[in-house]
Amino acid sequence: MRSAGLDFRTREFALREFPDPAPPAAGEVLIRVQEAGICGTDRELASFRFGFPPEGESFLTLGHEALGQVVETGPGVVDLHAGDWVVPMVRRPCAPRCPSCARGRRDLCVSGAFTEAGIFGRHGYLRDYATDDASDLVRIPGHLASRAVLIEPLSVVEKAVETALRIHEPGARTALVLGAGPIGMLAALLFRLRGLEVSVHSLEPPDHPRVKLLERSGIRYVAALGNMRVDIALEAAGSPAAAFAALGALAPLGVGGILGSPNATGGMPFLDLLRYNQAVFGTVNAGPEAFVRAVEDLAALEADVLDAMIFRVRFEDISSTLAAAPSTAAKTVHVLAE
Ligand code: BGC
Ligand code: ZN
Repeated sequence: MRSAGLDFRTREFALREFPDPAPPAAGEVLIRVQEAGICGTDRELASFRFGFPPEGESFLTLGHEALGQVVETGPGVVDLHAGDWVVPMVRRPCAPRCPSCARGRRDLCVSGAFTEAGIFGRHGYLRDYATDDASDLVRIPGHLASRAVLIEPLSVVEKAVETALRIHEPGARTALVLGAGPIGMLAALLFRLRGLEVSVHSLEPPDHPRVKLLERSGIRYVAALGNMRVDIALEAAGSPAAAFAALGALAPLGVGGILGSPNATGGMPFLDLLRYNQAVFGTVNAGPEAFVRAVEDLAALEADVLDAMIFRVRFEDISSTLAAAPSTAAKTVHVLAE
């Protein structure tokens, strides 16, 4: 089978042929990968800034946002059947389990000994077939399959939105999202679905197709933040400038969420945080219940907006899509099975 990933010995991206997987063992499921999405994490991995291959190997198959179809189930698997559509969870619990992993919150793992498919110590889904534990797969209703490649990024957003809403004391009415990439767009759509008044601020010009798409869903694009104050502000731009802007835009009791910014010095508004009883949180990854909510919300979000976010390309185009985002659409998706 085909596979695309990183050779950590030569520090190069490579396409490789691997033997097809063996039949699934007890509790396991063999899936045919249908499609795999690419994000900023993959581009950072491809520059070898982080990530590592499975133990004892030098190659890491990339791809952590995937949709697959069950080919065969191993003994003891009762919830999944051949033909079912599934989305794999990215993170796998640590062993022996830390308190978070033990209570089903692998996304909150405190030992750091977790693995993440396509990222840390476990092969991803830019390959024709994969074998997973049934407990790491989320079943998708067939009518959602054409948009289900968005479930993994949506699960990350589900956790962030849920965390922000939970922390905000009296209940938030307004939200600002910094960034209009896939995570920023999905966050804005989800806040809207939760009934908040939503604004997006990003580097994209006001006539950008992604901005227009958000406006169609009742989301306001703001070119300059000025004195804007909101209950919740999320940084989804991967930049410290956006993170500082998010904190600076918080109203009293406001909650700021950091999803992608690297470290930076200066500018933390400590005095405002204490004076206005504000909170800041960071979040990464998503646990099983966030995936379940993502499946529900994928069905509730406007189908044509989600469809317009997806740009499908061939598996073979992977080296060029890793080098640069190829289109104005939000999410580049590689099709493996026709
Ligand atoms: C993925 C997360 C993952 C994170 C860091 C993101 O792109 O969506 O599931 O935890 O990268 O590895
Ligand atoms: Zn991702």
